[in-house]
Amino acid sequence: MDRIRIRGGAKLEGRIRIGGAKNAALPLMAASLLTSGRLTLANLPHLADIATMTHLLAQHGVLIGMDGDIHTGPEGQAGRTLTLSARTVTSTTAPYDLVRKMRASVLVLGPLLARCGEAVVSLPGGCAIGTRPVNLHLSGLEQLGAEIELERGYIKARAAKGLAGAEIVFPAVSVGATENLMMAACLARGQTVLDNAACEPEIADLADCLIAMGARITGAGTSRIMIDGVGSLHGAHHPIMADRIEAGTFATAAVMTGGDVQLDGAEAGTMTAVMAALARTGASITRVDGGLRVVRDANRLEPITLETSPYPGFPTDMQAQFMALMCEAEGESAITETIFENRFMHVPELMRMGADIELQGSKAIIRGPARLRGAPVMATDLRASVSLVIAGLVAEGETTVNRVYHLDRGYERLVEKLAACGAEIERLAS
Ligand code: EPZ
Repeated sequence: MDRIRIRGGAKLEGRIRIGGAKNAALPLMAASLLTSGRLTLANLPHLADIATMTHLLAQHGVLIGMDGDIHTGPEGQAGRTLTLSARTVTSTTAPYDLVRKMRASVLVLGPLLARCGEAVVSLPGGCAIGTRPVNLHLSGLEQLGAEIELERGYIKARAAKGLAGAEIVFPAVSVGATENLMMAACLARGQTVLDNAACEPEIADLADCLIAMGARITGAGTSRIMIDGVGSLHGAHHPIMADRIEAGTFATAAVMTGGDVQLDGAEAGTMTAVMAALARTGASITRVDGGLRVVRDANRLEPITLETSPYPGFPTDMQAQFMALMCEAEGESAITETIFENRFMHVPELMRMGADIELQGSKAIIRGPARLRGAPVMATDLRASVSLVIAGLVAEGETTVNRVYHLDRGYERLVEKLAACGAEIERLAS
């Protein structure tokens, strides 16, 4: 398994191109199942999770072509172009060996049910950050008229007479359940209302694409989404939005190292909570042409208190990165994780680097500055991994981050992008 070696101390200075959003690309790819037409997605990031979704869709019969070159599109974004054509769906089964690799595979459930009237999808199972059930997906689909059974680790869903629109009130906010139901409702008879829907920008991006495919959706990006079902959808071309978590990650790294970095392609409008939190630490974040500039002016890093919450609140996917940053703040910070029940696995590894972190249930108290020291550390999930890289950028001496495959799921060319801004970082094949 590859590992990453970092020697701390360099300031990050330069420019980083932000790629297309992983968490927008995955549902957008699943949406290709809703039509026999051709869906073209631009600004596609090159990530392990994208490859997993590609394999999953291909075994459903989706014909997939990728223009692998990175090129700049009309909207100024760079990235690959992916074409997906589900002319015929040859299998409605999503097998365990693929779904267990990536829980976002469950996003084929709604489209398969809507397009084919049936779906057999492995239960995704939990992952490092939590049990991550899919009950909200299943109860929503049942309200659209699907019959659902759980059998030997699989979801067996049928809608022989098709789906019928309904008013669905989510008992809890769920990004994936909102996406699955929004896609399924596009082909349901009549109107569906999703209440207490998730408001993440990736949902609005998905809705924009579905509307370009002929769907009738209003309110995406708010907590109340209305979908008027149509008979069928056609193909479309859609540029994937920029990855706000990748941008937030590099912004945090720039502040951590006392640097000055321009994030080309970052969409400030999707990052207000992260930008506000970074500004409270004493950094300056300014909008520049086509992106963001992040500079840490003062030497002193201010400690802050925050908690994660659904969009537009501070994103849980930025919690680990921010915790690494707070290790260097001068004073006591507190971060509360409200979304996932086990998303503090970066804490013991940061403590091995000298961080002073005390866990009180879902709240972490961080006392700084820790003067971090390099160490061999272990990654456990995507965002925990990158928080260890951020810590390594300032730690005294050498840090080796193991199990780098976690990083490959969500960060394209991470080492190259950081090295181009002056970091002493390299990837070691083992
Ligand atoms: C999406 O996961 C993201 N993944 C996650 O990003 C992100 O952390 C999460 O939203 C929250 O923002 C993708 O978009 C591919 P949820 P998702 O359904 O949809 C519970 C990353 O690092 N829940 O909003 O799975 C669930 O256990 C990843 O890029 C139920 O109880 O998240 C969690 O506690 C990690 N029942 C909470 O809701 C359900 O049916 C939020 O989950 C569904 C979810």
